[in-house]
Amino acid sequence: VQPTGHGAMRRVPTGEFLTPSRKTNGKGVQVEDTRICVVMVGLPARGKSLIAQKVVRYLGWLSIGAKSFNVGQYRRTDTPTPTANFFDTSNAEGERLRRAAAEAAVADMCKWFREGKGSIAILDATNSTKDRRRWIQDRVTSEGIETIFVESKCDDEELIMSNILEVKTTSPDYVGQDPEEAAMDFRNRIRNYEKVYQTIDEDESDITYVKLINVGSQVIINRIQDYLQSRVVYYLMNLHIKPRSIWISRHGESQYNIEGKIGGDADLSPRGQMYAHQLPDIVKQSVGDGRKLTVWTSTLKRTIQTARYLTFEKLEWKALDELDSGVCDGLTYGEIEERYPDDFKARDEDKYNYRYLGGESYRDVVIRLEPIIMELERSENILIVTHQAILRCIYAYFMDVPQERSPWMEVPLHTLIKLTPRAYNTQEERFKADIPAVSTFRAKGTSAKHQDADSSDLPEASMASPLDSPPGPRGADKEPDALDLGPQK
Ligand code: ADP
Ligand code: F6P
Ligand code: PEP
Repeated sequence: VQPTGHGAMRRVPTGEFLTPSRKTNGKGVQVEDTRICVVMVGLPARGKSLIAQKVVRYLGWLSIGAKSFNVGQYRRTDTPTPTANFFDTSNAEGERLRRAAAEAAVADMCKWFREGKGSIAILDATNSTKDRRRWIQDRVTSEGIETIFVESKCDDEELIMSNILEVKTTSPDYVGQDPEEAAMDFRNRIRNYEKVYQTIDEDESDITYVKLINVGSQVIINRIQDYLQSRVVYYLMNLHIKPRSIWISRHGESQYNIEGKIGGDADLSPRGQMYAHQLPDIVKQSVGDGRKLTVWTSTLKRTIQTARYLTFEKLEWKALDELDSGVCDGLTYGEIEERYPDDFKARDEDKYNYRYLGGESYRDVVIRLEPIIMELERSENILIVTHQAILRCIYAYFMDVPQERSPWMEVPLHTLIKLTPRAYNTQEERFKADIPAVSTFRAKGTSAKHQDADSSDLPEASMASPLDSPPGPRGADKEPDALDLGPQK
């Protein structure tokens, strides 16, 4: 079979698998017509913004256009640093400005939908009265947009206080203020909201809603209408906020890595075996306490051999197997370039969407990894031993790496990455074993052979060294360009 020139034709349109499309524009091009407004509901410090931000990241990872519209941000243009009194409903001026902020956010959201920018918008505000919800429902419905109300209820005073200290005292609303005074004022702000707060009840049985009570310990759902809504609900049901980390590592260097071949089911090289021997100590060093992890591997020998000496419970997942390179399996990049030059070029042009003949694209991999992400959200401390392309996709989910960059990230062998989800971002630490390995990274436009990575920067005596945390590119701590993402085109 000569797959020459098939690269572009095998591209999968954005969201093909996930976004139901019922209309066409007459030219056979599909137009996505499901538009959903997710309306957050709840008192302040109930995790609404955190939930909104996670849903946007999850949907973006799945190529479903999503955006959050935060009413607080609109309000800040007029009232950047309000005191609790601003949120007292007997404060007429405060009420007027808050209403104006909500209207501006909804107007922008409707415009965003009209311009075809995405399928799911999140209206992130308290929306704590029935009147406000009815207004949103009517306004949004008149634009032909579906609504789903997501109420977060929580009466755990200790948790709320810790939420205030964790995220509210550093909010732009309290910039430059003493954290204790800020926390006190925020407590009073909540009291003002409590005076008028109406939970969603049977009077609103005609609306579509999800109620998350005490961080998902009870979930009530009403009138979920379609596939996309149920996907969002399913995701929300799986979220938790227990402190935990996720560790990810590629397998140790394999025989195929040394030979520069892709795919296959090779054994570890002698240096790969050394990494397997060291991994339990590196993990122990990175865990820091006596936490028990669960280890997930793929079904391929090189990940199973890498996890061999770890004493934790282990699970093998077919979904964690390396990207299937189809007819190119077992070839070197040089051989692929020689035999299938057009495909080789097509992959470089659009690596995320390029599907190997008889194999997969990065987009395909993301779809098959979705249950893994869901299970990771449900779980606590998981160590994943997997492959280069798979690791890139999982990392991209947690660190919000855009699709055009994720397939080009440099992920070295013999390095353990620890990801710790925090309120609005994910913290990253890297622990590099002092065992050389080839680099399997191929930069765009090259047919680079797998060669020994430069190990001159390794500390001499240490077994593994925590490296500086590269940040996530969007919504994370630092600037995107500091991340080890490989070439950024
Ligand atoms: P809000 O937008 O409701 O004012 P934030 O999203 O700013 O609240 O609050 C984030 C904090 O809420 C985080 O500390 C997070 O751990 C916590 N949190 C997340 N989900 C929930 C939940 N369902 N109930 C209560 N707190 C939550
Ligand atoms: O070279 C190691 C490897 O895991 C191959 O098995 C796989 O095809 C490749 O990396 C994926 O990386 P890329 O998408 O950059 O070719
Ligand atoms: C806000 O102003 O911070 C806010 C969330 O507004 P509202 O409660 O009016 O939605």
